[in-house]
Amino acid sequence: MMSYLIAANWKMYKTVGETLEYLEVFLPAVKDLMKIDIMIAPSFTALSSASIKLDAAKKEGEYNVKLGAQNMYYMDKGAFTGEISPIMLTELEVEYVILGHSERRHIFGEKDDLINKKVISAIEHGLRPILCVGETLEEREQGKTLSVVEKQIRNGLAGVEKDMAFIDIAYEPVWAIGTGVNATPEQAQEVHMFIRSLINEMSKGNDEKTRILYGGSVNENNARDLIKEPNIDGFLVGSASLDPNRFYKIITEVMEV
Ligand code: 13P
Repeated sequence: MMSYLIAANWKMYKTVGETLEYLEVFLPAVKDLMKIDIMIAPSFTALSSASIKLDAAKKEGEYNVKLGAQNMYYMDKGAFTGEISPIMLTELEVEYVILGHSERRHIFGEKDDLINKKVISAIEHGLRPILCVGETLEEREQGKTLSVVEKQIRNGLAGVEKDMAFIDIAYEPVWAIGTGVNATPEQAQEVHMFIRSLINEMSKGNDEKTRILYGGSVNENNARDLIKEPNIDGFLVGSASLDPNRFYKIITEVMEV
């Protein structure tokens, strides 16, 4: 089986200085911890410093920590004021990119067709997309959870079904993000199981390397029960990843299962 992936999405929270302070504490804690894939997605402005810091650490020991970006545009270059291209990310040794996060969808109006272009571009550039999907509270209450998730996945991955091995998916119910109300393990498992069978069908069985992460109020107290579910292959953590000790605790909870 593939390794679990525990990923930190720092959103718009840390400056360069704060990023470096965090890594100063976090990196020694995860040295030689190779069993679990760890990803950190700082702000764009901190990626370069974080990359240099990580490289320096890797000269001193073994680290299974990768860098991720929180978004990107799909073009390589051009007149796209304010955007960041995939080649700007790969230059900094970024390996993952979070795409279609619910904050991108709901605050910045990103739609499935734009997200799909980004996914295709990420794969072409050797970046591993983490495609985020999830229903709103209203959609859940209307019984539309699985149909919403199915549409986001089919549209988001149109044309790259054969590349499923290079993609991870994060199920992040909108009502659980930043609210302190996580999906119960049973609620998450139901959707993860559905996603697993969907991507298995879409990729014609070529989905063994695809991790299905859960995101939404994951913390050091609920991580263990969530990760015990058979189709939860890791986490995308927001608030609780902002503190290096709490994020490390989540990783140790997963290791012990
Ligand atoms: P919280 O962990 O703060 O709920 O955020 C989840 C998230 O959006 C991760 O991408």
